[in-house]
Amino acid sequence: MLLRKPQAADAPLMFSAYAQDPAVTRYLTWRPHADIAETRAVIDRFLAAWEKQEEFCWLLFTNNAGQLLGSIGARTEDGGFNLGFLLARSHWGRGYMPEAITVVVDWAFTQPWVSRVWAACDVENHSSARALEKAGFSREGVLPQFSVHLNISSDPRDCYAYALTRGV
Ligand SMILES: CC(C)(COP(=O)(O)OP(=O)(O)OC[C@H]1O[C@@H](n2cnc3c(N)ncnc32)[C@H](O)[C@@H]1OP(=O)(O)O)[C@@H](O)C(=O)NCCC(=O)NCCS
Repeated sequence: MLLRKPQAADAPLMFSAYAQDPAVTRYLTWRPHADIAETRAVIDRFLAAWEKQEEFCWLLFTNNAGQLLGSIGARTEDGGFNLGFLLARSHWGRGYMPEAITVVVDWAFTQPWVSRVWAACDVENHSSARALEKAGFSREGVLPQFSVHLNISSDPRDCYAYALTRGV
């Protein structure tokens, strides 16, 4: 698998691979994109956030065919990163995301200020919970009414907190 920073030219590929797919966005905070312009605006935000070191978002590709698999982002917080991730539907269930999470965690812990990498997932998002567990994350508990997942409801939903902390 190859991870690389997004580019403006990736918008059509991202749009068709996953950004417009309601199955992918079901448990996410954003609605499926209506058009490529929306995807392009998101890439612009990714690049601005990268510039400010607020969030690092990578696109995931197969390293042989260069096929776009999905994306993973690490948002900078005090003492660590909060992860968000997704895959195009046709690539679910092949263990790609546990592998990508492991790569990003290994990168995160090369930085001395990082003591914790974590992610929140909707309590009904079993695939995400499993991917985090397979990457070695521990379930720390439930965050009540933590996040609005618009595609399900406008009410904030309970999420699991999963984390990996630096070994001492
Ligand atoms: C969450 C996600 C990234 C998991 O990545 P992945 O590479 O498919 O993860 P894995 O291959 O390790 O599979 C994890 C679990 O997904 C489930 N799963 C497997 N194939 C599946 C499929 N075709 N459809 C739905 N779920 C499936 C299984 O429960 C699996 O657990 P198991 O290996 O113990 O059987 C992927 O499902 C996804 O992109 N979902 C939509 C976006 C999303 O919800 N992101 C997370 C937000 S917190």
